[in-house]
Amino acid sequence: MRVLGIETSCDETAAAVVEDGRRVLSSVVLSSAAVMRRYGGVVPEVAAREHVAAILPAVSTALAEAATRPEEIGRIAVTRGPGLLGALLVGVTAAKSLALAWGKPLVGVHHHEAHLYAHALSGTIELPALALLVSGGHTGLFAWMDHGQLRRVGTTRDDAAGEAFDKTARLLGLGYPGGPAIEALAAQAQGGRFRLPRAKVEGGPYDFSFSGVKTATQELYRQHPEDRQEIAWALQEAVVEALVEKSLRAASDLGFERLYAAGGVTANQYFRRRLAEEARRRGVAVHFPELVWCTDNAAMVAALGYFRAPCDPGEQWRLNADPSWRLS
Ligand code: KG4
Ligand code: ZN
Repeated sequence: MRVLGIETSCDETAAAVVEDGRRVLSSVVLSSAAVMRRYGGVVPEVAAREHVAAILPAVSTALAEAATRPEEIGRIAVTRGPGLLGALLVGVTAAKSLALAWGKPLVGVHHHEAHLYAHALSGTIELPALALLVSGGHTGLFAWMDHGQLRRVGTTRDDAAGEAFDKTARLLGLGYPGGPAIEALAAQAQGGRFRLPRAKVEGGPYDFSFSGVKTATQELYRQHPEDRQEIAWALQEAVVEALVEKSLRAASDLGFERLYAAGGVTANQYFRRRLAEEARRRGVAVHFPELVWCTDNAAMVAALGYFRAPCDPGEQWRLNADPSWRLS
């Protein structure tokens, strides 16, 4: 079955056609990052307006590149939340309208769960496993027992890991999005000149906190404005260490031998290397999505849509965006 996926939760307008939850026939991502760069970050109203202009071109390009006619689409899947309300509404409204016009079943999916289904696009997902979602909007750990069965075991108390990269990048004058810029700058550093204080999170052994490290970076930059490379390295090191340590501790304590990492920050090569090395040492099999599926896209949405039952035909017109939808 071919599923048309639609994703508009943040600043990427994306549409994709995926067959049987794994074979990507097309994937179109129209990013408004260039527009957002002018503002130094995502402005919700601007993002929504960009989605309005881009959504139908994205869908028609995805269909054309997949050489697929609307009649050949078996189902439409759309990100229903979490994300920016105005942005989500554009995708949800487009998906509902196309489902009505074409007479197709509709399924609304969770954005974080969709990130995990990037793994379906490059192999088979073997469950149960531990899942680490590490993106710009959220950072958390889940016991992923089966398809549709996720239990939160850890979450961020404040910022997401990607947010720490984005905010620090803005501070260092590196622009938006910050993650790739911090990674590139850190790669030029010798490393080890600075060590940022590590967050102590009381009461939640697998919870994260990244706002302290962001503030400490700010202070370090005030003292050493000439040393941006080493500061970027220190930030990346602190964030990566927390992600690696908490995930592998959770895997060991909770008895998981497999870990699926997903979300935009998994595009970071240093993070991938460090987590892979440490996981190997501790006997945990770790999986990363292919680079192209790490950041927001609609192929992962279509993949999850394939595994999920659509709404009742009588109910699908009620499907709505939920900007603060919590997984599990
Ligand atoms: O998953 P994603 O595309 O969108 C959300 O669901 O949030 O993640 C975007 C986040 C941004 O914070 C971005 O800076 C970060 O992923 N990111 C990276 C890298 N590429 C993207 N962070 C670190 N290193 C990277 N190479
Ligand atoms: Zn995302």
